[in-house]
Amino acid sequence: MKKEVLTLSPTELRELSVGINCISKSGFSLLVLKRGDGTLQACENLCKHQGGKFAPSTDIEDMGTNIAKCTRHHWKLDCETLEYVNPPEVHKQEPLHIKYGRDGSATFLKEVAELPWREGLPRAKLDSNELTVTYLSHACLEFKLGRHVIVSDPWLIGPAFLRGWWLKHQPPENAIERVCNADAIWISHGHSDHLNIHTLRLVAARRPDIPIFVGELNEPIIPQDVMEDIGLTNVNIIPTGKWYYLDENSRFMINTDDTLPEVDTWVIMEHKGHRIINFVDCSAPSAFNVPDEQVDVILTDFASGASGFPSCFADMYGSEKVLQLANEKRRLFLRKLGDLARRTRAKAYIPMAGYFTPSHPSDSDVLKLNRQNSPEEAVTFLKKTHPHMKAWIPFPGGRFDLCSLEGDEAPDESSYTCKSWQFSSYTSQIESVAERAMVTREQLQQYFDWVGFADYDLVLHVVEMDEKLESIVREFFIDFDSKKPKVVTFKPRLGKYLRMRVRSTSFRYVLHTGSTWDDLLIGFQARISVSPDVYHFKFYNHFSNLLPRNKPQFKLSETTIERQQQKISKFNSLLVYAFILVMAVIHAMLR
Ligand code: FES
Repeated sequence: MKKEVLTLSPTELRELSVGINCISKSGFSLLVLKRGDGTLQACENLCKHQGGKFAPSTDIEDMGTNIAKCTRHHWKLDCETLEYVNPPEVHKQEPLHIKYGRDGSATFLKEVAELPWREGLPRAKLDSNELTVTYLSHACLEFKLGRHVIVSDPWLIGPAFLRGWWLKHQPPENAIERVCNADAIWISHGHSDHLNIHTLRLVAARRPDIPIFVGELNEPIIPQDVMEDIGLTNVNIIPTGKWYYLDENSRFMINTDDTLPEVDTWVIMEHKGHRIINFVDCSAPSAFNVPDEQVDVILTDFASGASGFPSCFADMYGSEKVLQLANEKRRLFLRKLGDLARRTRAKAYIPMAGYFTPSHPSDSDVLKLNRQNSPEEAVTFLKKTHPHMKAWIPFPGGRFDLCSLEGDEAPDESSYTCKSWQFSSYTSQIESVAERAMVTREQLQQYFDWVGFADYDLVLHVVEMDEKLESIVREFFIDFDSKKPKVVTFKPRLGKYLRMRVRSTSFRYVLHTGSTWDDLLIGFQARISVSPDVYHFKFYNHFSNLLPRNKPQFKLSETTIERQQQKISKFNSLLVYAFILVMAVIHAMLR
């Protein structure tokens, strides 16, 4: 369905300059390219990443081109092709249709999908404790919709992203029990702070058939082998954009993110016409076409700092610039929050999905550089632009009641902040695999062949480091610029280059198990520098989200001890043979 969004009069059209024009009119923003012959190309001025606005790029290398640059995180768009050039080869803006009037005006039309959530349930008064949100930890919340209880994204023990993220809050003592007693679990996406294997194993051990709901995406949120490994037997994949009814009063709808449509989802939960929207950490939920009626509460991430950028880029930028970038990113995060509050017209806000810490001592550099927003900062920011909006900062076991739009009062923060994490019981598992994994160049080549990322202008320089990232264990290069990636020991050519200093144990473990590189990149296990400074989205996205579904079967090499034991046993056998031989000779001589 096409919808008219804006009309330019003949005079306004004449006044457009040749090149890029940014136009805001009737509440709509356009990016219009006027070519030398007067013809137009246009798209909505709304960045695919997180909804920023474009302006003509003033970078020296873009002079005389039709490149626009997003004012938020500086992604670049070619306004002629409407393809992003940085990050390259991934996103595209949809062109607007242009209808020329007889009077010489131009009307711009946008392709719009039917909004599946438009019709709300009849709104009825709520009783106390009828529709509530109880916080357990990070993004794990218990939603009570009348008779039904749904828990989101349970992460209650152990690390996420291999060994990079640790829980900031101590979940309530009965948290696992509460999850097991829920009617269902909703998992928003496959990141391990949402799909947390350590937690789900505990849940599966007690209640393997607990109903799990996930949205139907091109890539499965819970791959079959992960499901089997965890021991969950009742995973329900439901279509996105469709209501799932719990009863006549309660329902939920899972929707997709626009930046990572094959990865991330958000959910609307509705009870008696009251809506809770849990955006979790979607960058651009449904391209910001979100419900704006009957929304009582929104929940979103707020913290920023939930990726390796910029805190793991000090090799490239230096610490001072990293801190500056981190602060900029924090501010932009709050703007996204402001956008969502404005678009949904929600009555209340709960900051969530930002309660983690890179507390492992070997990541102390990240702890210093990874500046994040506190929930208090997020709430203060919102209050400035939305003074009537209520906000509740959650704490483990605390409950927000939609009847009163009030939440429980928090105890002193020190009473629920985690102080120890049992690091070694998790890191030792990684180390025991890593010491025998990916030892030879052939194994590395086999791995990159399995990954299947090729035909991309990039040389990846892997520098495997010790635990403290102080000394080099080994290094090698992978050239992706041909039909088949090549693992080599010397830099193969000049060109686009990405150096990754990475903790050797984590790297080898991730490769051996065929795990996502999110564990390395979001999990703070690598320190990155890139030249030239290009965001290689296609590369990151492939290694993070598009690895082949069939897991590789790499052999583990023998450990040094095993090799020594083998040598000893060979030596022992030789001794026995020699002894038998000598005895046989003596025996023969004596005869
Ligand atoms: S680059 Fe446009 S919003 Fe991030």
